[in-house]
Amino acid sequence: MGSRPALEILKDRVAAKQAVGLTRRLVSVGPSCGRFVTVRGRRCLLMASNDYLGLAGHPRLSQAAQEAAASCGTGSGASRLISGTLESHVELEQAIARFKHAPAALFFPTGYMTNLGIVSTLADEGDLIVSDQLNHASLIDACRLSHAQVKVFPHGEVAKAEELLAQGPKDGVKLLVSDGVFSMDGDLAPVPELLEAARRQNALLVIDDAHATGVWGATGRGTLEHFGLEPCPEVVMAGTFSKALGGLGGFAAGAPEVIDTLVHCARSLLYSTAPPPAQAAVALAGLELVDAEPWRRKHLHALSDLLRKRLAEAGLQVACDAGPIVPVLTGRAQAALELGEGLWERGVFAPAVRPPTVPEGASRIRLTVTAAHQEEDIETAAQALVEAAREAGL
Ligand SMILES: Cc1ncc(COP(=O)(O)O)c(C=O)c1O
Repeated sequence: MGSRPALEILKDRVAAKQAVGLTRRLVSVGPSCGRFVTVRGRRCLLMASNDYLGLAGHPRLSQAAQEAAASCGTGSGASRLISGTLESHVELEQAIARFKHAPAALFFPTGYMTNLGIVSTLADEGDLIVSDQLNHASLIDACRLSHAQVKVFPHGEVAKAEELLAQGPKDGVKLLVSDGVFSMDGDLAPVPELLEAARRQNALLVIDDAHATGVWGATGRGTLEHFGLEPCPEVVMAGTFSKALGGLGGFAAGAPEVIDTLVHCARSLLYSTAPPPAQAAVALAGLELVDAEPWRRKHLHALSDLLRKRLAEAGLQVACDAGPIVPVLTGRAQAALELGEGLWERGVFAPAVRPPTVPEGASRIRLTVTAAHQEEDIETAAQALVEAAREAGL
């Protein structure tokens, strides 16, 4: 008997997702930096972007991109270890190290590739990775790629994480891995406690500050600064330029031993063409703007607080109590879709977030505030959400 055609199987798999309210579409939104986007022909207030500081539309960033492309061309032509390491990469890596108060840093094409590189490289056969249950997909995939043993601890439970670390190898690397800010919930990892546990167990702590860089800490350095911690050799700091910094690309910062290991062995760095000069120039300009325009971070947090206040006044529960990620849980995927549709009908764009991005039964609308917003936008978004939630019976 012949086997079933592969395309038929794929079609059935997508149909199975659609049957449980998990249809996914790539929706074109026109330019997505700034306050507004056009979605399915309707001009909407954008409440779904991770451009937290509103830098993606900043003239300094587009000028940096244009100048770099005009003077250095559009491609780097090879991987970092061949002829792809450009002056702009070196300059940027020095700036990242200064920014993060770290001895060394490395620039990757994306945040996803950064996490793949860090976790799958630092922990190899005979090693142990202990990973928070709600870590971002890039960290989960990195664990899958690594040849190390992987153990998952319940979200934020440091005592459990330490117990797992204590069972690790005597002569192998132990990695404790956590998002700094959890992308779908917006909550912060207990970084000081994680660091103490890592120290007691001779482990390295990997903190992915993708959603914290530029946003958290008095000067936007991320979760360590927020908690009053100094960068130290036991912490590997990961971050991305694609969110608050308005560009694209990721970075690792930390001890020279860590960065050297990545340069020797990180396959996502070594076997991919280096980012083009314009990408590095934009990243550098983004870092500089975090310091040059601190008002953006203050404005962002003030607007985030205002949105939470308005939702609380209307009796709506938000899953996290500070910061620009404002998740409104609906539970069922279908309810999140209806709420997203109700928002769109009212001129606000914040689509449903459903499994597998979040656990089963934890679908939601994830509103995000950016420094490009104004107070009136927050009032509009809050009112639209309250009305749409009532309509959806939430
Ligand atoms: C926590 C976290 N880490 C890493 C990434 C990947 O970053 P990038 O989009 O730059 O690849 C994301 C988001 O996409 C994220 O939310």
